[in-house]
Amino acid sequence: MLHINEEVSRCLLCADAPCGKNAARAIRALRFENHWTAAELFNSMTDDEIAHAEKACIHYDRPIRIAELKKQVESPKPDTTGSLPSLELNFCDMVCENPFFLASSAICTNYEMVARALEAGWAGVFYKTICKQDIREVSPRFDAVRKEGTPFVGFRNMEQLSENPYQMDFDILHRLKVNYPTKRIIASIMGQTEEEWIELAKMAEEAGCDAVELNFSCPQMRLTGLGSDIGQNNELIMFYTSYVRDAVNIPVIPKMTPNVQEMGMPALACFYGGASGISAINTIKSITMSHDAEVSNKKTISGYSGKAVKPIALRMIYEMTGNTILHKAGIEKHMDISGIGGIETWRDALEFIQLGCRNVQVCTAVMQYGYRIIDDLILGLQHYMQERGIVELKKLVGEELKNIVLPSDLDRETMVLPKIDREKCIGCGRCSISCADGGHQAIAFDEDRKPRIIGQKCVGCHLCRLVCPTGAIGIAKRMPKRDK
Ligand SMILES: Cc1cc2nc3c(=O)[nH]c(=O)nc-3n(C[C@H](O)[C@H](O)[C@H](O)COP(=O)(O)O)c2cc1C
Ligand code: SF4
Ligand code: SF4
Repeated sequence: MLHINEEVSRCLLCADAPCGKNAARAIRALRFENHWTAAELFNSMTDDEIAHAEKACIHYDRPIRIAELKKQVESPKPDTTGSLPSLELNFCDMVCENPFFLASSAICTNYEMVARALEAGWAGVFYKTICKQDIREVSPRFDAVRKEGTPFVGFRNMEQLSENPYQMDFDILHRLKVNYPTKRIIASIMGQTEEEWIELAKMAEEAGCDAVELNFSCPQMRLTGLGSDIGQNNELIMFYTSYVRDAVNIPVIPKMTPNVQEMGMPALACFYGGASGISAINTIKSITMSHDAEVSNKKTISGYSGKAVKPIALRMIYEMTGNTILHKAGIEKHMDISGIGGIETWRDALEFIQLGCRNVQVCTAVMQYGYRIIDDLILGLQHYMQERGIVELKKLVGEELKNIVLPSDLDRETMVLPKIDREKCIGCGRCSISCADGGHQAIAFDEDRKPRIIGQKCVGCHLCRLVCPTGAIGIAKRMPKRDK
């Protein structure tokens, strides 16, 4: 038996892949949750081509089982073959060809990088934060949190702002806007004083930028009173936002730090400062204990990002888009939200959109996999919309907000039992171990190595379903809880 996700996550996603264009692209589509494109590509390949691809694989351990993957990927359903819907979505009154932007970071620090990304299909860029400070970085400046076979689930960086002379960065932005007039070119800036914020914002406007992002959120500045020190102080957020608001006519978008207790009040400060939108989140303050003493034995607090932070980012987005005080103030009429944090696939992006974002930004996933992830961000979302019969992306904006409720509003009277599919079960016993040691001792593991749910003990927590490696545990019917 082959587990698609596991096999696909073994693929090295090679550059100029020896297994060939179609096979590599199909596997990449599967890796980024776009089974529609994978099926189309696999279906276009003959058995011989598949066999060749598998033989050419350079995996250091054993070749990826491409023939098996092809067998297991469903053919596209007939209604997914027509023309795909447009992903156009307005953000802060800017028409954007799709909602996917590069986040201000290491992935957009010069003209050539951004140009390549725009050519690949990204709709715009929040360019690396421009400043007038002397930026001196450390080496190395990155670390990662690994989990079992996954190269990294979380990423820590100790990088500050653009090291280019600020005039040079504005010149780059100007050239980008001239050469890519339909793309959205947004400057990210950080001043040290009121005058500097205004000067940099005006330079962004003069360079032809479509908007300016205010970096109130870098958690690892060498000097105090900058970055997230501003984002943690609602008065400063409001003052700096309003200084810039009064100085320029382009949209002003403060970028918020997650290193606060909640996001509602900082968002209100942006609103009263006259912001046109909000970007959230920047990285989360963290420590990783790299054991590589040869590299450095000194550690510090710095920013954490990547897939692991997505649930925290979503919670903070909801604290803005689901906030009744902000709604009363008219947030949705006056401010658009750009969601950031752990976005790798179209599904991740969709979650941000369904919680009310009109734009999403990506950083760590591009650092890990390259600009090419835009292919499956775009196609995956388009196929999903097509399957649901949705023709405009704006229909998805905020559609899940109604389903986020208070803990007190959750159903506590009924339960759903797990249901074991004996065909899919391989008898590993992981479900019984987790249930015994972290659940309710409700799974018997018999001599035939098949688990059995003990209905009288099971509380329907579904830990077993989450740990099962083969997807053999499903969901039975919802029913009233037993009497205690
Ligand atoms: C190496 C690195 C450099 C970054 N530099 C900046 C920056 O200059 N300005 C900024 O606003 N955010 C910066 N960020 C934060 C990202 O833009 C983004 O908010 C954060 O990484 C979360 O998104 P992600 O999980 O997609 O990476 C940086 C992040 C990383 C990893
Ligand atoms: S050569 Fe092997 S590891 Fe590399 S992309 Fe192709 S299938 Fe993946
Ligand atoms: S974890 Fe899944 S595969 Fe393993 S014994 Fe339980 S049901 Fe079977």
